[in-house]
Amino acid sequence: MKKIICTLLVVSFVTPAALLAQELWITIGSDGYQTLREKPEFIARQALEAHGERNGITILKVDESNLSGISTIMHKSHNRCGGFMVHQSLAEAQAAQLSPPPTAANRLASYTIDNSATVSALQSQITEANIRATIQSLANFTNRYYTTSTGVAGAQWIRDKWQLLTSSRSDASVQLYGHSWAQPSVILTIQGQVQPDEIVVLGAHLDSTAGFGTGEGTRAPGADDDASGIATLTDVINAIVATGYRPDKTLKFMGYAAEEVGLRGSAAIASNYRSQGSNVVGVLQLDMTNYFGSNSDIYMTIDYTNSAQNTFLRDLVQTYQSHLSVGNVNCGYACSDHASWHNQGFVVSYPFEADNSGYNRYIHTINDTLANSGGNANHSVKFGKLAAAYVAELAKGSIGGSRHSSAW
Ligand code: BES
Ligand code: ZN
Repeated sequence: MKKIICTLLVVSFVTPAALLAQELWITIGSDGYQTLREKPEFIARQALEAHGERNGITILKVDESNLSGISTIMHKSHNRCGGFMVHQSLAEAQAAQLSPPPTAANRLASYTIDNSATVSALQSQITEANIRATIQSLANFTNRYYTTSTGVAGAQWIRDKWQLLTSSRSDASVQLYGHSWAQPSVILTIQGQVQPDEIVVLGAHLDSTAGFGTGEGTRAPGADDDASGIATLTDVINAIVATGYRPDKTLKFMGYAAEEVGLRGSAAIASNYRSQGSNVVGVLQLDMTNYFGSNSDIYMTIDYTNSAQNTFLRDLVQTYQSHLSVGNVNCGYACSDHASWHNQGFVVSYPFEADNSGYNRYIHTINDTLANSGGNANHSVKFGKLAAAYVAELAKGSIGGSRHSSAW
């Protein structure tokens, strides 16, 4: 009790420098809030002032500089039982606190598996060497933190890479998606030939972190978390161009900024897509695909995802990579960008590299290197082939575009 009174007293002595930082609001499980209060050394103390508790969720006002400290504590101390969402205003935080996530079922796609020629063509182009090279290029940036110059350069590198890969395609365009912080997200759009208003999203986060204190010059290779996800998507893009595949529905490949500090890039994008009324028929999240640490090959994340689409993905593995085994895993909290889509009511799935005892323990350190994921991208290839099957069977369309393409 005494601790709370002290904390509140400190609030009145906020320094002018702290007042300049951008104020944000977070919602956090009340158990997570207790954890933060026990470890105030990493966080400016005014961040520990609660602004209401409801439904087991506490609202805190924080400034931007507190986010990485909060994330570090939640990850280390709570080990998968805490989590938090970032909001731009108190009203937004209160809305999140009051209404539980919608049941992400408003746009249930009908799932069919009948495009095997396209799937096979795309899958045959997914190569370990390509994925490995992209992971290494991304890991070579000192860090890809959301506020640093190398974090911005990393996002631009992805933009340039995706632009180069698709330069022969008049149906493709790449954009930087700006935010209120330095690092942009990256979005590649491949226009659908038949139902362009129906959108299939494949995403991964492009930022990296080495935990508390990450900044300009801090080494944070993020080879698995999450260069592996971006590299996996990049090889799907390469396969699309190499085969001449043209989707019926519109594809959007997204590299999200600022995931490591509260899913901020994906939260902004998902919220924008919802308010625009975008018809997103399915979302796939790839975050950590290259560390083979458990018995099964692929683990479907059960929480903050859509079970019908998860079943569809399991069926895709069964049909097109029948030698692989698929397990289930619970993240336990809003641990990656899939939660941003889920919280806006979209259908999302998150196939993951391992179970909770086998995932890569080097993440968020200087040691999240390709060498520490085995020095190859063999595990990511399975996810690349799954993503290729997902694209061909959800967005449909065909190779060469002979049926629908206006360009042929
Ligand atoms: N890739 C991780 C999430 C993850 C870690 C999933 C280990 C499964 C096993 C992601 O980049 C991450 O670090 N997320 C943050 C979320 C937070 C900032 C809301 C985390 O877990 O601390
Ligand atoms: Zn991470």
